[in-house]
Amino acid sequence: MAKGYEGFEALWHNLFWEAEDAPSEVPLMDEFLEQKRGQSLYIGSGSGRLLGPLVEFGHDLVGLELSPEMVALSKQCCPEAKVIEQAWQQHEGQYGSILIPAFTFQLFPDPQKQLQRLGQQTNHLYLTLFFPWAELSGELPQKAWYFDRRISLPEGFQGELETWHQIKESTGSLHRRHRYTLRDRDGQVLKREETEQRLRFFTDVGLKKLFSTSGWEIKREIANLGDYEDGDLVYVSTFHLEKVAS
Ligand SMILES: C[S@@+](CC[C@H](N)C(=O)[O-])C[C@H]1O[C@@H](n2cnc3c(N)ncnc32)[C@H](O)[C@@H]1O
Repeated sequence: MAKGYEGFEALWHNLFWEAEDAPSEVPLMDEFLEQKRGQSLYIGSGSGRLLGPLVEFGHDLVGLELSPEMVALSKQCCPEAKVIEQAWQQHEGQYGSILIPAFTFQLFPDPQKQLQRLGQQTNHLYLTLFFPWAELSGELPQKAWYFDRRISLPEGFQGELETWHQIKESTGSLHRRHRYTLRDRDGQVLKREETEQRLRFFTDVGLKKLFSTSGWEIKREIANLGDYEDGDLVYVSTFHLEKVAS
């Protein structure tokens, strides 16, 4: 059963992204949408942080989001952006294109089945996936809690994120727990919440095989959200995929 973001994970989602200092995905999504016709669907549109600007640019784009808390944040930030509150697995519809940025696809079990289902809804797919180099290389400790990021909140309060993970290279599975802690200005813990995710990840070869066996052809591949120089490790890959005519 699919589960959306809730509690601190939803409420602090944008602040943690801002603290990450990664390039925004908006320009890549904007460029993809420029060449597309008809209405597009954005799966896992979350708090609206990417959906809002894209709708403002004039794209015919509708969000689809499972978590009621994320939908409420989206409506608050970007009331002009339409969002359907539903799990994609229950959603029926045909679209000019479908976008799944920010690793949401990796939350879904059985990727081949999902890619085939996406092929029944559209001929054009935008997909962003991450590769967990830091976890695989041992740079981040396995089966231990470690400090991840901290955010500043109003009135001197702070939000803290700690992470735990277990990774299995042979099956491409990353089991991750997040611990969110709210502290007051003296550092006292006011509230703690834990969440859990089971993500899939793919090697380059495995991914290309997965795309071709599920009926998709790669039209374009962008490394590290466009911030890539020769020899860099590729942490994030964005794909423009086109359905192969059957
Ligand atoms: C990694 S977050 C990305 C959010 C947003 N795309 C962003 O970049 O800010 C994943 C989002 O997908 C939503 N989600 C997870 N499973 C879903 C599903 N099966 N159908 C629709 N949304 C889902 C979560 O609630 C969460 O908001």
